[in-house]
Amino acid sequence: MSSDIDNIFTKAASGMSLVKNRQALTIDYVPEKLPFRDEETKTLAQVLSTIFKGARPSNLLLFGKPGTGKTAAARSVVDRLAKKASELETDVTVIFVNGKIAGGSAYKVIFEIAEELGINKEQEKQVHFTGLSMGEATDRVLNFIQRKKLHLVLVIDEIDSLVDRSGDDILYNFTRANQRMKGGFITLIGISNSLTFKDKLDPRVRSSLSEEEIVFNPYTVDQLRQILQERAKLSFNEGAISEAAVNLCAAIAGREHGDARKAIDLLRVAAELAEREGTTRVDEKHVRASEDRIERDAPFVALKNAPAHHKLVILAIIKSTNGITGKVYDIYLSLCKQTEQKPLTQRRMTQIINELDLLGLVSTDIVNQGRYGRSQKIKVMIPLTTVEEALKEDINFASLID
Ligand SMILES: Nc1ncnc2c1ncn2[C@@H]1O[C@H](COP(=O)(O)OP(=O)(O)OP(=O)(O)O)[C@@H](O)[C@H]1O
Ligand SMILES: [Mg+2]
Repeated sequence: MSSDIDNIFTKAASGMSLVKNRQALTIDYVPEKLPFRDEETKTLAQVLSTIFKGARPSNLLLFGKPGTGKTAAARSVVDRLAKKASELETDVTVIFVNGKIAGGSAYKVIFEIAEELGINKEQEKQVHFTGLSMGEATDRVLNFIQRKKLHLVLVIDEIDSLVDRSGDDILYNFTRANQRMKGGFITLIGISNSLTFKDKLDPRVRSSLSEEEIVFNPYTVDQLRQILQERAKLSFNEGAISEAAVNLCAAIAGREHGDARKAIDLLRVAAELAEREGTTRVDEKHVRASEDRIERDAPFVALKNAPAHHKLVILAIIKSTNGITGKVYDIYLSLCKQTEQKPLTQRRMTQIINELDLLGLVSTDIVNQGRYGRSQKIKVMIPLTTVEEALKEDINFASLID
């Protein structure tokens, strides 16, 4: 045994490991090249290039299924835009925010934009931004843009979370602001993986936000394979991963729809498992184990990424102990109060329960309660510790977990 342990240390010390660049396997890594996204990135660049003529580029909506490269493509184009603008000394301001922040709170999004613009720092009187109403906060941001005559490209990633939680008022105000601005302007780029996102918008917002649209189609298995080969070359040491393992990742990720994120996740977890085993090469068996691991963690990930009210509903079900809808709703209301969330109607809560059911997180059953009639009984299907782990990471809910 001591020789085993010795080996582990010797191997680590000799710098021999499977992975040479761990960063390249993380989800927010944006590769230098994005194969198969030439058309999309070029169209985006083309639309935005108007800014170098001093005019407002059209607003854009990018959509496509998860893992189709929307975030990566938008990031790489706007980063390059910002770089070019600074080389040419053209005034361009680029802001990239995530609409999912704080569960899709419009206030938080406005706050982030103000931070990025430097408004919060600029206020001499130090009027706390957080003390303002949503309308005042929006006005302050828009006035700042107008006063400074900013040419702003504002990217809102995962814009559907924002609209689900907070409605589309903020988008309305931002798209409308151009009409009253003299000098400055705002180009809005919304990114969504919900194909029905547009249906949720007020027609006026819909038409101005989607002046241009770019659709990202799922990758084919063959495309995924090539994307992964590139990524493997960047991140693994020579010979540290078999071609069959890379191909298997691509095949698994292509099974539902061509999701590059899933493919890269499989690769990363396979590498971790192989390293833990102390082998010298990642093989197909590690990819299979990686698939199992990811599947096992799926409920955790689903819950962690769920909208705020889904989380509150799950907590309410747990705290209700009996899972009867009426009681769950009462507890849900009190949790909303504690976390300063605007409560949804009981009908909407029931829809959320159905969504959670579809995700496999809860199960519902109709029970006969004697003279009280029938009622729905809900049970949480994943271990309490998993729920706690998933919710703890969200600062809004940390205080609710005891
Ligand atoms: N064409 C590509 N070449 C190389 N890597 C890619 C490509 N497309 C996507 N990726 C990688 O796959 C992962 C997922 O891509 P990305 O985050 O851009 O997906 P998305 O479309 O924004 O998904 P979601 O809708 O879930 O946010 C990232 O790590 C990204 O770097
Ligand atoms: Mg994305």
